[in-house]
Amino acid sequence: MSVGIDDISFYTANFSLDLQELAANNGSDAAKYTVGIGQERMSVPGADEDVVTMAANACVPLLEGMAQRGEDANAINTILFATETGIDQSKAAGVYLHSLLKLNSRCRVVELKQACYSATAALQLATAWVARKPKEKVLVVASDIARYDRQTPGEATQGCGAVAIIVSANPRLVALDAETGIHTEDVMDFWRPNYRSTALVDGKYSTKVYLRCVRSAWQDFQQQSGLQFGDFDYFCYHLPFSRMAQKAHNHLANGNAHELSAQALEDQISSSLIYNRITGNSYTAAMYIGLISLLDNTAQDLAGKRVGFFSYGSGSVGEFFTGTLVVGYQDMLHQQSHQHMLASRKPLNYANYQQMYAFEVPTDGGDHAFAEQTNGKFRLAGISQHKRLYEVR
Ligand code: CAA
Repeated sequence: MSVGIDDISFYTANFSLDLQELAANNGSDAAKYTVGIGQERMSVPGADEDVVTMAANACVPLLEGMAQRGEDANAINTILFATETGIDQSKAAGVYLHSLLKLNSRCRVVELKQACYSATAALQLATAWVARKPKEKVLVVASDIARYDRQTPGEATQGCGAVAIIVSANPRLVALDAETGIHTEDVMDFWRPNYRSTALVDGKYSTKVYLRCVRSAWQDFQQQSGLQFGDFDYFCYHLPFSRMAQKAHNHLANGNAHELSAQALEDQISSSLIYNRITGNSYTAAMYIGLISLLDNTAQDLAGKRVGFFSYGSGSVGEFFTGTLVVGYQDMLHQQSHQHMLASRKPLNYANYQQMYAFEVPTDGGDHAFAEQTNGKFRLAGISQHKRLYEVR
């Protein structure tokens, strides 16, 4: 029996800012963004979107698919919600999600945190659970809004998005191997104290720690699995911005892939970067949106191809793991709806972006209704007496 990803879909907000527009207004050279960090646009959430609404919207295609195939949604008895944009210090965001999705009450729900890494912890925990109870399915959700202070180097790497993954026995998309390589190290490269709504980051240091971590996790992975660089066809890296993956891949290839040309190395990652370039960072969801991007944007049949994954969470924890594409995986893709969603985002001018950036959920305990901005099925309608009010559109 194999265990892994049976279905996967993502959602991003309905607004986007072109980084050329940002550059034109902050005095940067646009090429620093489009070439230097490899980003074109970033998704910007409306006032009525948060990690719960994005997660719920990401889950819609999975549940619709299960219903169409006559599969029982009650098989989902666990939700693991990964985020570093938590909305409550106590209640798990996944409990709101569980309610919006009308899932069975016989379902455990928990939230996980370790910067951008926690979705991978969730995925690994899910595979272990399914290996023990093969008839059950786990819904892994990763949802985040990447937010930095205005006029900082991090601002151009903002973005948002959510990924929903069904983990099952005999998956129809990616069969995951049990062997993984792990590296944990206590560093202050990127963090967000509880009293801040924006992240603090030691930017250049964070890129160095990322590279150190990828090398170390890879070495551990090799020891655990015996696999070599040449055993892999494609790679998906954590994507704070697309150039980071290119740096990481070259770093890993250095000394490992003497026979591969620069173009061949680029071909191993280029399709995984397409969606990130136009959505920006989505922290926990980023690497998994990279996987979806690889699958949606590769015309050739990838069945049997081996993908290497490097998940990184500042602070820091990194994990290298692998999976193989399953025959017929194309039937499970949601390519058209992803591409339609991305194409129908509303472009913002700089003034609109500034306004949307300035919005914060009120903290005064009063009753506040939020403007209807999202096109998604689920929205945050307002907040009343410190309670978030969600609705289905
Ligand atoms: N044309 C082409 N390229 C240009 C250029 C131009 N006009 N101007 C600059 N560049 C290039 C630079 O040469 C540089 O390339 P290299 O990295 O290859 O040297 C690149 O553009 C970036 O330029 P700078 O180093 O001057 O950029 P910066 O000081 O503005 O900072 C950053 C870049 C550190 C990534 C910053 O965007 C940042 O702090 N981002 C947030 C933190 C982050 O994403 N860290 C990644 C690792 S941590 C992680 O992965 C977790 C997470 O999700 C946050």
